Amino acid sequence: MSSGTQGVMFLLAIMVSWAIDIFAHNSEVHVKLENRLKSKVYLSPKITQFPGSVSNKTYYDIKFPKGHIAVKSFNAEVVDEAGDPVSLQETYVHHWFAVRYYQNKVSKDIIIAGNSGLICNLYNVTVDKDGRPLRPNYVGGLYCCYDGTQCKVKNGVRNVSRNVYLKYTVKWVDWSDSIVPVKVFIFDVTDTWQHTGIHKCLFEYDVKKSTTGVATNNYTSSRRSSVSFPTAGDVVYGFAQQYIGGTGASLYGEDGRVICSSKPIYGKGNDVGDEAGYIVGMSTCYPKPGSVKIAKGETVTLESNYSSKKMHTGVLGLFYLLVAESS
Ligand SMILES: *[C@@H]1O[C@H](CO)[C@@H](O)[C@H](O)[C@H]1NC(C)=O
Ligand SMILES: *[C@@H]1O[C@H](CO)[C@@H](O)[C@H](O)[C@H]1NC(C)=O
Ligand SMILES: *[C@@H]1O[C@H](CO)[C@@H](O)[C@H](O)[C@H]1NC(C)=O
Ligand SMILES: *[C@@H]1O[C@H](CO)[C@@H](O)[C@H](O)[C@H]1NC(C)=O
Ligand SMILES: *[C@@H]1O[C@H](CO)[C@@H](O)[C@H](O)[C@H]1NC(C)=O
Repeated sequence: MSSGTQGVMFLLAIMVSWAIDIFAHNSEVHVKLENRLKSKVYLSPKITQFPGSVSNKTYYDIKFPKGHIAVKSFNAEVVDEAGDPVSLQETYVHHWFAVRYYQNKVSKDIIIAGNSGLICNLYNVTVDKDGRPLRPNYVGGLYCCYDGTQCKVKNGVRNVSRNVYLKYTVKWVDWSDSIVPVKVFIFDVTDTWQHTGIHKCLFEYDVKKSTTGVATNNYTSSRRSSVSFPTAGDVVYGFAQQYIGGTGASLYGEDGRVICSSKPIYGKGNDVGDEAGYIVGMSTCYPKPGSVKIAKGETVTLESNYSSKKMHTGVLGLFYLLVAESS
């Protein structure tokens, strides 16, 4: 897999619900140095959007620090032409991720991992991007909102274009022998492994509206899946990913101990980063080094809770865990 070209790519799905004025000129790219920590800000290519339009972009070989480095952090946000962050109420960023990829020299195949989707109200979308019909009553999820599709907009909204960029900040240090590398594990609550012995991640699932919630005053829909952890290690960092309606997720060890719990943070206002009704962050775990261990072959269970007060289609229950392998 290591032969061929290597690079980093972005997969980005965003959607704009209404446009505002367009400002001129781009923000600058700058490098900062704090001790050995280097930091650089980059901009993606320009993405032009209209009210209700959906963008699902993939950019290969994006700008990224070169050399043998240890990435300390990677953050991204959508900005406008003036470089100011854009509210989720205006441009809803469903997800973004950057992955390393390899290109096979002979076949030109791109080898990567991962795929995800977008939820919106369908607007005359009856087939997926490959032309396969969507199942009846499919409200939204992985298959509907491909690049160039259109969500319904309110009557009277002016069709004005707006240019946005994904601005991402990478912090890194140059490699040295004192750096302990981590392995990234992604758990998916839809993984079928415990039933089939094969890892098959369906990513999205649906949460039905509870019919018994009123009587029991319990609107928790809980889903679980277990896997066998492949290596022994120390947990360095962890967090879950859920969509709107999510109420928290936990990873449990075989003995029932909590390895990491992560809850969505819902916005309360109108400010950028605090958009009411949206998930604006997830709480994280950053345990004292060496204090949370997982054994090789240990059964680890992921639990993902959603509110079943309303139906939620195409939700996610993912958990990201950074583990330093112990010898
Ligand atoms: C949506 O589909 C309906 C039925 O095919 C059609 O009448 C209508 O014009 C379409 N609307 C748009 C905006 O394409
Ligand atoms: C969005 O783009 C990614 C990467 O090209 C692709 O794998 C995915 O299927 C696309 N999603 C939709 C809904 O088209
Ligand atoms: C807005 O204008 C663009 C470009 O002309 C067009 O592609 C898009 O369909 C329009 N959107 C609506 C909702 O009419
Ligand atoms: C609430 O209901 C869910 C789903 O029926 C169930 O798994 C959970 O144990 C219930 N919680 C409480 C606190 O009763
Ligand atoms: C999920 O819901 C179950 C049942 O109500 C509860 O026991 C558990 O603590 C919840 N877990 C998280 C991570 O919120």
